Amino acid sequence: MIVRSLFLSIILTVFSIAEVSPAEEGEKIYFSMGCYGCHGVYGEGVNNFPKLAGKSRIYLAKRLMELKKGMGHTPQKEMMIPYAKALSEKEIESLSIFLASSSSKDSESLEVPEDVLGGSNL
Ligand code: HEC
Repeated sequence: MIVRSLFLSIILTVFSIAEVSPAEEGEKIYFSMGCYGCHGVYGEGVNNFPKLAGKSRIYLAKRLMELKKGMGHTPQKEMMIPYAKALSEKEIESLSIFLASSSSKDSESLEVPEDVLGGSNL
C-alpha cells in the first residue's frame, strides 16, 4: 500500500512538472530568441534598450503587436521589429505574462508610479 501511494505521488509530480504555464512558456521564448541580449537577463533594460520587467501585461502585448506591424517609438525600432514579426500572437501573450510577472531587481524602478509604467524608457 505504501509503495503504491509512493508510486502515485511520483506520477503526479512528474505530471505537474510537465505542465507548462504561459509564464514559463514566455520565459523559454525570452531566452531562446535572445531577447535578453538587448533587454537584460531580468528584463531590466540595458543602455537604450527599454526595461520590460514589471510593466503591465496589456501594455507589453500592445507594444509587441504594434512592433509586429512595423510601428515603433524610436529610430532604434528597426532592431526590434524583426523580433516582433517572428512572434505569434500566442507567443506575445506568453511573453507579456512572463515579463509582467518578473521583477527586474532594480529597486528604484519599482517605485515608478503606475501611470508612468506605460511609457517608454527611451
Ligand atoms: C537587437 C536588440 C533587441 C532585441 C534582441 C530585442 N529587442 Fe525588444 N526592443 C528593442 C528596442 C530598440 C526597442 C524600442 C522599440 C521602439 O522604438 O519602439 C524594443 C522594445 C521592446 C518592447 C516595448 C517596450 C516598451 O517599454 O515600450 C518590448 C515589449 C520588447 N522590446 C520585447 C522584446 C522581446 C520579447 C524580444 C525577444 C523576442 C526582444 N524585445 C528582443 C531592442 C531589442
